[in-house]
Amino acid sequence: MSSFTIRRARTPDVPGIRELVKPLADRRVLLEKEAVAYYENLQEFLVAEDSEGNLIGCGGLHVMWEDIAEVRTLATSEAWRGKGVGRVLLQRLIDEARDLGVDRVFCLTFEVGFFERNGFKAMAEQSAVDPEVYSELLRSTDEGVAEFLDLARVKPNTLGNTRMIISV
Ligand SMILES: CC(C)(COP(=O)(O)OP(=O)(O)OC[C@H]1O[C@@H](n2cnc3c(N)ncnc32)[C@H](O)[C@@H]1OP(=O)(O)O)[C@@H](O)C(=O)NCCC(=O)NCCS
Repeated sequence: MSSFTIRRARTPDVPGIRELVKPLADRRVLLEKEAVAYYENLQEFLVAEDSEGNLIGCGGLHVMWEDIAEVRTLATSEAWRGKGVGRVLLQRLIDEARDLGVDRVFCLTFEVGFFERNGFKAMAEQSAVDPEVYSELLRSTDEGVAEFLDLARVKPNTLGNTRMIISV
């Protein structure tokens, strides 16, 4: 059986994370980000590695507000798809959300079946935050938050994606 472990990301993982993300970003499945963004957000990331220490998966949890966070950049290498890496990474990110005091976790994805089978539900338009929080979130400069808010300027990035949410 193939074994893998999950651990917190470290700075030397950034090139490997970018390699995982690159083909998905080229297909517009994930958002392309500069290297500096991965270093700046390193503490948000978990990685999966095989028994030889090769990086085979990654995923991040970005807190957006008191009660809501986003799973972002969840990816498993082609060779490791369908072996439970994605599910374990996602569960660990959800555990972190709970530990941090967050009630709900959002994601924007093409992988609707995968997230549904992990307890997420497609979200009704803008129903996740009240107008007051919405206006506070508008002050964010983060692209993912803009996507969560469904702002016109990021619509090309989110085309065809489903907005999903889970209570944790
Ligand atoms: C979404 C994604 C991370 C899932 O990764 P994964 O490692 O293949 O996920 P899992 O192996 O846990 O689950 C995938 C399927 O394999 C099956 N599976 C899980 N464990 C298994 C095992 N041990 N043996 C065989 N099959 C297994 C699951 O039933 C699951 O089926 P489902 O998708 O129909 O629910 C991966 O498809 C990916 O990188 N997608 C592109 C990036 C993306 O869209 N990310 C989400 C937005 S941030």
